[in-house]
Amino acid sequence: MSTNEQLFDRAQKVIPGGVNSPVRAFRAVGGTPRFIARGEGAWIVDAEGRRYVDYIGSWGPMILGHGHPAVLEAVLKAARDGFSFGAPTEREVELAEEIIRHVPSVEQVRLVSSGTEACMSAIRLARAATGRSRLIKFEGCYHGHADALLVKAGSGLATFGHPTSAGVPPEVVQHTTVLDFNNIQQLEEAFAAYGDELACVIIEPIAGNMNFVRTSESFMAWLRELCYKHGALLIMDEVMTGFRVALGGAQSLYAQRMQGFVPDISVFGKVIGGGMPLAAFGASRTIMAQLAPLGPAYQAGTLSGNPVATACGLATLHEIAKPGFHEALGERTRELVDGLKAEADAAGIPLAVDSEGGLFGFFFADALPHDYASAVAVDKERFNRFFHAMLDAGVYFAPALYEAGFVSAAHGQAEIEHTLKAARAAFTALRT
Ligand SMILES: Cc1ncc(COP(=O)(O)O)c(C=O)c1O
Repeated sequence: MSTNEQLFDRAQKVIPGGVNSPVRAFRAVGGTPRFIARGEGAWIVDAEGRRYVDYIGSWGPMILGHGHPAVLEAVLKAARDGFSFGAPTEREVELAEEIIRHVPSVEQVRLVSSGTEACMSAIRLARAATGRSRLIKFEGCYHGHADALLVKAGSGLATFGHPTSAGVPPEVVQHTTVLDFNNIQQLEEAFAAYGDELACVIIEPIAGNMNFVRTSESFMAWLRELCYKHGALLIMDEVMTGFRVALGGAQSLYAQRMQGFVPDISVFGKVIGGGMPLAAFGASRTIMAQLAPLGPAYQAGTLSGNPVATACGLATLHEIAKPGFHEALGERTRELVDGLKAEADAAGIPLAVDSEGGLFGFFFADALPHDYASAVAVDKERFNRFFHAMLDAGVYFAPALYEAGFVSAAHGQAEIEHTLKAARAAFTALRT
């Protein structure tokens, strides 16, 4: 049996940083990443046989936990029928129908293989539909690693953003404007300055990439209004929130509070693939008609709508569409965050918590943040110590303080109790 350390040494020889996605490397918290051998319901087991309550759930997809029998059976059956054909299959139609059934703003979807691909394609679609180039994104939101999105704000509204990654030419981000999340005044100024050149605004409705930060209702209402007024398309990136915070995604929560609220384009990923590489973007039929082969906007993929991935996604969606699923998931998640808060209070450690459906966040701070600056201005040292104490006690939270947490339907009373018991000891140790 190899240890995590041995595997990480081996990995670093053949894979940059030893990982295939940077956050897995534990750089933010230090220490050796756990190499996961298998998952069982709400638990994951590492290469050394240690078990952890899993609050990452593959960063969102595993809403039913690991190895759900109905999903497993659907995947095995699909695999026996063939891995990939590069020709249309019935399940792609079924999955598209299923997504549309739950998200009224979407009349058609195109399936792709990752959230990055879906967001990149959604922006191309918005540009094709409007004939404009400029896009707005918000600091702290992540929409995948397409060049034009790896950008941070310039020094003022009139200046261009700067690439946040080497290898992204400055010219590629010149059409991207980065604004502060939840800042209505800045939004108004930006629309006044170049609203009529805007193709789209892309936003995470609950930003899970700065831990857990909600858009305020007034901000979302203004954003929606300004986009309508200036003919820009509102892209809601529900890769993380879609089918997780509610069956109809975060947009359904806004629609409950704001009559007629709909985004123009929606992006999904994670849950709709149930753990397989699958994502999607969708909109009205008119907007989607811009896409090849109907329209002039090119978009394609060898493995798009893959038969095994669609089987996994469909089986997952069938399970989560059962009555009461999200209510139960939301209650369990609330129990977790309320419990964490109570344990922190008892230890005299400031902690702010929030959750929606099966998505949650906690901050070592007195109050919940409202933007990127306040989300990262928390006690990092405390978070890192807490993370490691929990990991040692068999609880696997995201190894970085700016990431959301995920609860699955497999998380039961026993897992919550295990977590809160570990948290009690971890918070108490933080006092020293
Ligand atoms: C909101 C959001 N959009 C897009 C992406 C990119 O998805 P992927 O990692 O599948 O490319 C992510 C990934 O975490 C995400 O959280």
